[in-house]
Amino acid sequence: VGETPQLDRYFAQRVQRMTVSEIRALFTVASRPEIISLAGGMPAVEALPLAEIADLTSRVIRDHGAKALQYGSGQGDPRLRELICDVMAAEGITGSPENIVVTFGSQQALQLLALTCLDPGDVVLTEGPSYVGALGVFAAAQAEVTHVAIDADGVIPAALREALDQAAVAGRRVKFFYTVPNFQNPTGVTLSEPRRDALLELADEYDFIILEDNPYGLLGFDGGPLRAIRARDSDRVVYFGSFSKTFAAGVRTGWALAPAPLCEKLILANEASVLSHSLLNQMVVTAYLEYHPWQEQLRQFQSLYRTRRDATLSALEKAAVSGLTWTRPGGGFYVWATLPEGLDSKHLMTAALAEKVAYVPGVGFYADGMGQRELRLSYCYATPERIQEGIQRLSGVITRARNNDVSSSLSAIL
Ligand SMILES: Cc1ncc(COP(=O)(O)O)c(C=O)c1O
Repeated sequence: VGETPQLDRYFAQRVQRMTVSEIRALFTVASRPEIISLAGGMPAVEALPLAEIADLTSRVIRDHGAKALQYGSGQGDPRLRELICDVMAAEGITGSPENIVVTFGSQQALQLLALTCLDPGDVVLTEGPSYVGALGVFAAAQAEVTHVAIDADGVIPAALREALDQAAVAGRRVKFFYTVPNFQNPTGVTLSEPRRDALLELADEYDFIILEDNPYGLLGFDGGPLRAIRARDSDRVVYFGSFSKTFAAGVRTGWALAPAPLCEKLILANEASVLSHSLLNQMVVTAYLEYHPWQEQLRQFQSLYRTRRDATLSALEKAAVSGLTWTRPGGGFYVWATLPEGLDSKHLMTAALAEKVAYVPGVGFYADGMGQRELRLSYCYATPERIQEGIQRLSGVITRARNNDVSSSLSAIL
């Protein structure tokens, strides 16, 4: 009998940078029913009319089963790509079905893009903090992520210019600026109109591509959506969309809209990856867009999430924890909070779980170990009552930790 081989000797170099995300490790505990989870970004799919979705799905199989149960194309079903253009038109985008590739969620589209464009050592600039799933993709591609500071209006153009200058001085190639412009994951912040234009000017000046990842754009609570960055420029922007939050995450259907030469490569990469996206899922999404009043459904989602956002903000205001600050999102799923000075959101998690409430510590949303005082609260999943109870518990945990801190430093003085 030979010795058991040490398998990590066979791992590729890029795998060494793949580590379990903070979020994944947390989910096991946070998903216990007794815990009020403000951690996961799970959409409220229970708000969908499930009997109607069941009818749509069985209609797809009954009437078009021979197609739906067959292999599809690497680019995605043509009818769905047409309908995706209608969805994007709501944010001012005129795209052609020819330039769309349909993927297993926008997560896979990000991965195909990284596979197609990133060489080890390429620099990707992102908001700080940024979407954890994108950070994972960039890490696997062995790219270097540099975070750029944001405020309540999204990324700060002067800070972006500074990061670009620094990369140029260091002789590094910046290929992309990755942004979630609407109701960002994890902060809930939206990139303002003037900054969208400023971003495009910088992209021209410094010659980089903008990756516009927009799963939440149609989930705004006040007024219509802002014009997408892609609506302002079709050559310098790759746009990522998803049906996960506007319909159902379980259909795992997203897309990329990219300039023709890039789109061709993405299709080839998709074929190499999965041959074709599930035609059954694509046809269910198509039926949903064709036969279900999806815009009315969107309004219902908006209203449901607005109620939960309001519950979150009013609970935070009521608790009035001294030194705690938070963002006020105009849509989407997330509030981003900053703890009083001296507290660490990862350390605090043990006490929070003991009080049966969960959130995501901020460090997971940075590639450089920042975010110790920050945390993400998701209001998409829990009911308003559970949210209020959860925030009350969390406020107690923070207040106690803060007071302990004060008394221990006081005792050090006495
Ligand atoms: C900013 C952002 N991009 C992409 C995704 C992945 O979405 P999908 O379900 O389409 O893969 C998410 C999911 O939470 C997200 O928040």
